Amino acid sequence: MKKRIVAGMLTALMAVSMVGCGGASSDTADSGNAGSDAGADAGTEEAAADGDVITVGFAQVGHESDWRTASTKSVQDAFSADKGYDLQFVDCDNDSAAQIEAVRQFIQDDVDYIVIDPIVSTGWDTVLTECEDAGIPVIVIDRTIDDSDKYVSWVGSEFMNEGLAAGTWLKDYAEAKGISDLNILVIEGSNGSSAQIGRTDGFKKIADAEGWTILDSQDGNFTQDGGQQVMESYCKSYEGQFNVVVCQNDNEAFGAMDAMTAAGVSYGVDKDVILISFDACKSGLEFVQSGDINADFMCYPLQGEYCADIVQKLEAGETVEKQTFMTEPWYVAEDILPSITYTNNAGEEVTEELVVVTDAASQASY
Ligand code: AHR
Repeated sequence: MKKRIVAGMLTALMAVSMVGCGGASSDTADSGNAGSDAGADAGTEEAAADGDVITVGFAQVGHESDWRTASTKSVQDAFSADKGYDLQFVDCDNDSAAQIEAVRQFIQDDVDYIVIDPIVSTGWDTVLTECEDAGIPVIVIDRTIDDSDKYVSWVGSEFMNEGLAAGTWLKDYAEAKGISDLNILVIEGSNGSSAQIGRTDGFKKIADAEGWTILDSQDGNFTQDGGQQVMESYCKSYEGQFNVVVCQNDNEAFGAMDAMTAAGVSYGVDKDVILISFDACKSGLEFVQSGDINADFMCYPLQGEYCADIVQKLEAGETVEKQTFMTEPWYVAEDILPSITYTNNAGEEVTEELVVVTDAASQASY
């Protein structure tokens, strides 16, 4: 065990912290994610003053989206040198093998903590065992690791609920608009990521229950180029046959909009195609506000302070939560449905407010 870790530190409390997952509690831009408490800053400033630098290795997914840019900045800000950290940042460029190698290099470099945003959800147990053997606590952010529990804490989103919410919103919206026949094209996120798996499964659950036709579902890799390329091909293969496009992140939606415009397909409020997206980044919400995207389901990326808080708790020998879920409002273009009700991934029936996007909401987003 590394010298920095006090006895019993890794027997972290296995409780689940629900920071209001999936909530949409106001019509402002406030996502409800306040970040960690002030303790993290106070603790790290003390560490910096002591000259006791904490080394953190961060194996980031890549740089594929606005979401990812915000995530990287959030972690870099939280683990800055003036707060007493030495952050070793690796952009893994969506390459799973490179990400495993980055983690192994952190072990070689004997860092104090390892933060991983896993590109894919499986294939982790061996390298996490290596981290455990080296006595280095691992914190997972954003996407989940589904085939190992050898990490101290995870902070992120309930992707399945995002998909369930999107499907439920579409059901209620189509009813409200008198649209009975839904023919859907999906542009998925990177295959094998928990974000893609959860959003796909959640949406499909509603689609299957409602008997909707999903004409096709292809990987757009969470990028604008990927979204554009998949949509260009859909516009040729399914010309005149679709009236819903679901993009699993905003950047894919930006690409899909370009492709539809080029193909003469209109999208958004009362147009040919209902367009659904995820992330609710600033540019995404601007398109919701202008009516080009009908609904955008937030995925909250600013998890750096939560991570730093976990490190500070471990430094102090305190227990930490095994799971922390982000609060994520659901944003819409029109004021015709106040809320949606669905059974979430925990089996609870939840009613969640829909937030009509205002200037304040889009400008305050990341
Ligand atoms: O894992 C989070 C997803 O990854 C976000 O939805 C997407 O934008 C990012 O690339």
